[in-house]
Amino acid sequence: MLTAITQSLLAVIIICLTAFYFFSKHRYGYWKKRGVPQVEEPVLFLGNLSFLMRKSFFDAVYDWTKKYKDEYFGMYFGWTPALIVNNSELAKHVLVKDYDSFQNRFSYSGLDDDPLGSLNLFSVKNPIWTQMRNEISPMFTSARLKGFANLMNSNSAELVRKVQTDFIDNNEPVDFKKLFLMYTSDTVAYTVFGIRVSALKEGMSPLWYITCNMLKWSFWRGLEFTMIFFMPVIAAIFKFKFFSKEATEYVKKLFWDVVNERKKTGLTNDTDLVNLLLKLKDNLKLPAESGTELADNLMLAQAAVFILGSIETSSTTLSYCIHELSHHPEQQEKLYQEVSKALKESGKDILDYNELLELKYLTACIHETLRKYPPVQLLDRACNNTFKWKDLTIESGTPVYVNILGIHYDEEKYPQPDEWRPERFINSSDNDNHDFSFLPFGEGPRFCIGKRYGMTQIRCALAQLITKYRFESDSEYKVVSDPYSVLLTPKYDTKTKIFARS
Ligand code: HEM
Repeated sequence: MLTAITQSLLAVIIICLTAFYFFSKHRYGYWKKRGVPQVEEPVLFLGNLSFLMRKSFFDAVYDWTKKYKDEYFGMYFGWTPALIVNNSELAKHVLVKDYDSFQNRFSYSGLDDDPLGSLNLFSVKNPIWTQMRNEISPMFTSARLKGFANLMNSNSAELVRKVQTDFIDNNEPVDFKKLFLMYTSDTVAYTVFGIRVSALKEGMSPLWYITCNMLKWSFWRGLEFTMIFFMPVIAAIFKFKFFSKEATEYVKKLFWDVVNERKKTGLTNDTDLVNLLLKLKDNLKLPAESGTELADNLMLAQAAVFILGSIETSSTTLSYCIHELSHHPEQQEKLYQEVSKALKESGKDILDYNELLELKYLTACIHETLRKYPPVQLLDRACNNTFKWKDLTIESGTPVYVNILGIHYDEEKYPQPDEWRPERFINSSDNDNHDFSFLPFGEGPRFCIGKRYGMTQIRCALAQLITKYRFESDSEYKVVSDPYSVLLTPKYDTKTKIFARS
């Protein structure tokens, strides 16, 4: 009897394993069958993502970029065949010219389980996305940005003061990443919630608490976030969340505290996101059955994604820029001379929005940093109509990833791409994507909505720091990136020695 059961069990296991073997063979032969270069042998379950949590996405994509020079190539993210695009012309089709075939992102969007994760502007799908994008765009008019620049300048002055008191006076090297997180957190507290707080001055603020929770890249949080972006089926099975539980609760609390306070006092702030979202709630055309919960969640989701979008990306860019300047004294001096000259000509202590925009070398230093260290390396889109380009056919449902890092390290466009040379961008403006070879903010209808805000925030801090201090590196040139974070961020503190300029 026992032998019969054991035999049946064995037979079932063998059948399952054989079925599994043939299924894998079939799935992992997808690209070869279509004549698309399949560059690395996939491993069971993970496909080509076997590096996860051991190596950062930045390092993995960098290695692919150095090894595979094809215009595009096939990979497997888990079981899913994914197309990686290295070619600027094809990127232009995916992001702009054939946007109708690539309207949504591929990442997981679990509506009911994770409203803040699925309804934010980054992940929300059409038709809600178009409506939200149109309603939120007025947040970034030039008039508003000029006002935000004044706030960013006053927070940058606080940053300069903190560097003096905590580091110069104590003769300590600075870990700029933490200071830049505080700076961007203080700024977003006002632009989203209209509250003036200073983590830089007080060491704590409600937004700093959220920032620390949202951007704590532990192994599990990193895994959750990675699955949302690259293996959405797994994210759906395990009900992973875009924002951590603590961060979600705290954003909710702060948002409703601010709204209730405004109701009570009748005072509003015309320029912040909360105000815009409250107006938007009245204008939204949502399905009749959706009730107020959807509208409330839509507002909260935008507040949350603004915090995430604006803090990590800008502080990473600022950190890498200071790191490169500290290793390039000649370029540092050139930047200092440019800012000093502009200050002298303006007769002021601090440059405003328009004056900062005029500084070509400052823009070049930031653009070259964003080229070499794009905080986001892959732009995801899901193909929703079969699409053809040259010999390539992309079937509906296939995820397509534009390889920003690959495009930024193309040796024909950027000779010796590992070198940091601001001169490459000396006549570059913020609107110039250099014929689709410079894409740190993405492109097309889904390009980064906070691009001008981010650039302004970086310009303000950099201009004030370079005016007051000279930097010398106190760490290795190669920065180790954090394997738990999907967005680029340094794993360890990058120490910089600073000296006050007389
Ligand atoms: C250095 C700074 C920044 C970088 C490098 C950056 C990069 C990006 C990239 C690559 C995308 C995807 C674009 C695409 O798929 O084509 C994106 C989207 C987005 N970013 Fe940024 N970002 C930055 C700053 C900001 C700021 C300051 C905010 C908010 C104030 C923000 C909010 C968003 C949002 C909401 C989206 C989704 C847009 C949509 O799908 O409609 N980002 N960003």
